[in-house]
Amino acid sequence: MLVQTYVDMLSAKSVIRNLSEYAVARGKEIGYDNVFDYTLGNPSVPVPDAVNQTMIELLSTKSSMELHGYSQSLGIPEVRVKVAASLNRRFGMNYTMDHIFMTSGAAGAIAHALRLVTVPGDEVLTFAPFFPEYNPYVNLTGAVLKVVPADVKSFQINFEAFESMINEKTMAVMVNTPNNPSGICYSTNTIEKLSNILTEKSKQYGHVIYLISDEPYREIVFEGVDAPYVSKFYDHTISCYSFSKSLSLPGERIGYVAINPKCEGADKMAVMCGQISRGIGHNCPASLIQLAVAENLDLTADMSVYERNMNILYDELTDLGFECVKPGGTFYIFPKALEDDAIAFCEKAKRYDFIGVPSDSFGCPGHFRLAYCISTEKVERSLEALRRFVREMY
Ligand SMILES: Cc1ncc(COP(=O)(O)O)c(C=O)c1O
Repeated sequence: MLVQTYVDMLSAKSVIRNLSEYAVARGKEIGYDNVFDYTLGNPSVPVPDAVNQTMIELLSTKSSMELHGYSQSLGIPEVRVKVAASLNRRFGMNYTMDHIFMTSGAAGAIAHALRLVTVPGDEVLTFAPFFPEYNPYVNLTGAVLKVVPADVKSFQINFEAFESMINEKTMAVMVNTPNNPSGICYSTNTIEKLSNILTEKSKQYGHVIYLISDEPYREIVFEGVDAPYVSKFYDHTISCYSFSKSLSLPGERIGYVAINPKCEGADKMAVMCGQISRGIGHNCPASLIQLAVAENLDLTADMSVYERNMNILYDELTDLGFECVKPGGTFYIFPKALEDDAIAFCEKAKRYDFIGVPSDSFGCPGHFRLAYCISTEKVERSLEALRRFVREMY
């Protein structure tokens, strides 16, 4: 018999993917250049040349076994050593290779982090607006995702709601900063307050509440924005990193789990991840990409286009009367729609080939997300369609 959980999921496919497929199909009719497709967070800037050159060099110098044999189950030891050293240098941490576990992107990292600290029935809290894939990430482990309503004025944390929702079943809290979809970075003040509450509630309930920090956008922070390293503020933090966005290589599936050395159970967690992998069939990311990122840990793609695009869109949207919290990073912006029903709003925008994602699946109705990881030239051309849409429809 087929498992009903997955059968049911077929009729609730990702809104983002559906809209992206629509944009591609529309592109076949009118030319993709004429479709202002703001749906997918698929980085458009190229991978840095240094990464490609490293891969070429590895292919021409390493043995077949080193490149194509089974990698150690926690990741290649030299790679883990280099990741730990880079984090220590940049963020003043004390990781060793024993705190690092190589994964297939942030998704792979989160799959392990959740299984380290929750069992079926436990609650995991996250904050709206949130990445909709957290639903399957959490719920398919058997734990239950609970979403704290947004603070729509700032998209920092709604602490009042958070404190009322945390309870003895809360085993983990998941944060994502810089945030998809709001583009907001949690401030030092926010992270400190969060850490204090977690410390106090852990004491109250007699067990550690772990913080899972999902950080694929950690390197995409705009000029002058306060974007602290989360693990520095709370010992029981499991950081989930991805190179998908910072090096523009989401198809390569590479990231890691970094366990705060002071986290309860820190000495066992990376090896436990190795055991979790056996059960979920994750195994290690490919050796070639592990070795390639290890040589380029302090490098990012040229991401200046994202800040440029953000400024253009933010200025235009606010000029047109949209309420919008200015993003501090990522390549997303999350304005309030011009009517309460964001789905209807985005449907109308589609008539102008301006395609954004309504916010309902992000747990924060009445907004829409634009993923502006596209060329500045296209962003600029899209403004006329946006202006016509607003003028004619509202
Ligand atoms: C907030 C967030 N978390 C996790 C992921 C998954 O990232 P990865 O491609 O590295 O698995 C994404 C991807 O878009 C994301 O936006």
